[in-house]
Amino acid sequence: MEYINNYIEANKDRFLNELFDFIRIPSVSAKPENKQDMYAAAEFLKNKLLEAGVDFAEVNETAGHPVVYAEKMIDPKLPTVMVYGHYDVQPAEPLELWHSKPFEPEVRDGKIWARGADDDKGQLYMQVKAFELMNKTGNLACNIKFMVEGEEEVGSMNLGDYCKANKVKLKSDVIVVSDTTIIANDTPSITTGLRGLSYVQVEVTGPNRDLHSGLYGGAIVNPANALAKMIAKLHDDNYKITIPGFYDDVVEISREERDLMALAPFNLENYKKSLDIDAVKGETGYLPKEHTGIRPCLDVNGMWSGYTGEGAKTILPSKAFAKISMRLVPNQDPEIISRLISEYLTKIAPEGVRVKVEYLHGGNAYVSPVDIAAYKAAEFAMEKTFGKQPIPVRSGGSIPIIALFEKELEVKSILMGFGLESDAIHSPNENYPLFNFYKGIETIPYFFNKFSKTAFV
Ligand code: BES
Ligand code: MN
Ligand code: MN
Repeated sequence: MEYINNYIEANKDRFLNELFDFIRIPSVSAKPENKQDMYAAAEFLKNKLLEAGVDFAEVNETAGHPVVYAEKMIDPKLPTVMVYGHYDVQPAEPLELWHSKPFEPEVRDGKIWARGADDDKGQLYMQVKAFELMNKTGNLACNIKFMVEGEEEVGSMNLGDYCKANKVKLKSDVIVVSDTTIIANDTPSITTGLRGLSYVQVEVTGPNRDLHSGLYGGAIVNPANALAKMIAKLHDDNYKITIPGFYDDVVEISREERDLMALAPFNLENYKKSLDIDAVKGETGYLPKEHTGIRPCLDVNGMWSGYTGEGAKTILPSKAFAKISMRLVPNQDPEIISRLISEYLTKIAPEGVRVKVEYLHGGNAYVSPVDIAAYKAAEFAMEKTFGKQPIPVRSGGSIPIIALFEKELEVKSILMGFGLESDAIHSPNENYPLFNFYKGIETIPYFFNKFSKTAFV
């Protein structure tokens, strides 16, 4: 389809400049001081969708950051595709590790360097520009809706209510999301699974104030020592999680499916090299890609206590904290899991400290079927533009709202992302190759064309 490459070729600099303007708005959902930037990013998107030719676009208030909604209905008899994405980004800290400023995008070595370059501004913007391309060339083959939120990176707390309140408006035949990865640029893949998440904060309290570590040390329970010991008890020597009941609802995957998964290319040496580690370690009996793809895990995301400034201060802290994420697999319930860890930590805490566990947010895992028209259309589209059939892959990441879409809107999602694991999302020096940005724009129209013909047959 020549019009696709022609349109991209004629507009590619403008596409990139617009994405840069989008990225320059520091829409960090976690930070109260960026509240105005959230509105600025939402307005920016609304205006770009209007310029691209939607029937209408609006910025809808929620109890948190606003949702951008837009649609173009061309024919009620045609299928409707809803594009979901997020305009919020992770905080850019630690700033001193960036080689260029996180909100001043630059192209170096064929990649865009900036916070949000991939996750999800770059990937979302591919969808916006692909829509523009289809619409302006007269090739839009499906009705289209856009629902873009500003709270994905902080747990999508208000999108569930938004969906419940707008079921009719949000009606669609499939949801398409570009917010995941492919294996490599010469090995396309489609994400068929996302892990769920249960995120908790632990607070251990000892004495009523920080104490002199000489006058009191050795006589009373130090909450930082206690928390470290408790956390160490959460895994056994086989890297199994020891919380009673943790695995109760886990569904084991069949040998056949695991053998199929093992066919996806994975180079352990390159993996270790890319992370500067000399060994990988995970639950006994599973391969590295299974550790992230089909097994749950538990990780400390942050820990703090006592004096962490420069030099030495001799105190025995009053409190110790940890943030813990548990990635879940299908059938595990995030709230039950948070209750189990809470009960277990309370049980193993030594006398002399008190434990409080707070559930911050979570969501269920998602598995996408591979035998539906939308998956096959995505497969067809990627095969057209990459020249190879994409491999189905279960990702270790989470987009908790996707399982909720299935529950509330009763519609499946297709995770057609174009990022690479090396894009350093959430890390300093996030980047997105220009190749992937333009490849996404090129691929999406093939999906719409195919789905338009196959959705209802
Ligand atoms: N886009 C990512 C998730 C992702 C990335 C899935 C790559 C698969 C492949 C998303 O923005 C993200 O970071 N999600 C959070 C969810 C959390 C903040 C509720 C995550 O996985 O930590
Ligand atoms: Mn994302
Ligand atoms: Mn993210």
